[in-house]
Amino acid sequence: MTTRILATSPLIGPALADLGARFPELGIAAFRSPAWNEALRSAEALVVLLSDQISEADLDAAPRLKAIGTCSVGVNHLPIKACQERGITVVNTPGVLTDATADLALAMLLALTRRLPEGEALVRSGTWPGWALEQLLGTGLAGKATGILGSGPIGLAFARRVWALGMTPLFWDREQRGGTVDYGAGRAPRLPLAELLARSTVLSLHCPLTDQTRGLLDRAALEQLPRGAVIINTARGGLLDENAAIDLLEGGHLGGVGLDVYQDEPRVNPRWLQAPRTVLLPHLGSATLETRAAMARLVCDGLAATLQVLP
Ligand code: DGY
Repeated sequence: MTTRILATSPLIGPALADLGARFPELGIAAFRSPAWNEALRSAEALVVLLSDQISEADLDAAPRLKAIGTCSVGVNHLPIKACQERGITVVNTPGVLTDATADLALAMLLALTRRLPEGEALVRSGTWPGWALEQLLGTGLAGKATGILGSGPIGLAFARRVWALGMTPLFWDREQRGGTVDYGAGRAPRLPLAELLARSTVLSLHCPLTDQTRGLLDRAALEQLPRGAVIINTARGGLLDENAAIDLLEGGHLGGVGLDVYQDEPRVNPRWLQAPRTVLLPHLGSATLETRAAMARLVCDGLAATLQVLP
């Protein structure tokens, strides 16, 4: 019997078409469109994006569902526990977006500390008076510490990047394992959260959003950062109490915030739009052609392998 696969997007590159060559009953319909709702009822596998919020009710509506492939490393848009209980396999895309995401975090860090948005706005305004000794002075990074929340591949890749700038990486992870981490250019300590925050001039978030990490950076945690600290979030918006961060930014305790992800994405808290010293991006972490094609390949091949072994 043929396997019915329902995708919400053709993805980037040939991977989904290749999957369709192996499993010809593959259909594409926009998420939650009438055609998607209809096809869900007989679907055995789904291919989704991180913006497709799948609910437990969707699983109820799909009694034949065996597998979900998400073209993302994050899985917080899927009802993971319900999938486990129903024996639905989840396939995601770890590994292939590591460099793209770490690069973007670095780009935001440099943009904030060297005041690139302000400099660009000044030139574009047509009012630049010319070079001046004290114009848009930024902050140097060498010799300072970067706290990294999460010691998975993206956290390690970010550590290598800040090490190359002369910074000292420090780690915290969900398992709170202590000891040191080999990040590929040296070893760095894993610290308790309070100690890491107190020492971090830069804080970059690279851990998944789970029940344990939701709201991890609340007001009390943010207040432990040194005055002038910069926060970069390319992970998930739910890790950070955005209103607390905006208060501390406006009050001068935080030196800058770079966000690629938001608490209530794609809605952006309107306070961010008025907040000083920010770089606000539309979830571009994995947005290179090569990375998105590699993600498509990984999820489609993973799904094919899964469907072949499932009864
Ligand atoms: C993912 O795949 O989960 C990332 O958020 C993409 O940027």
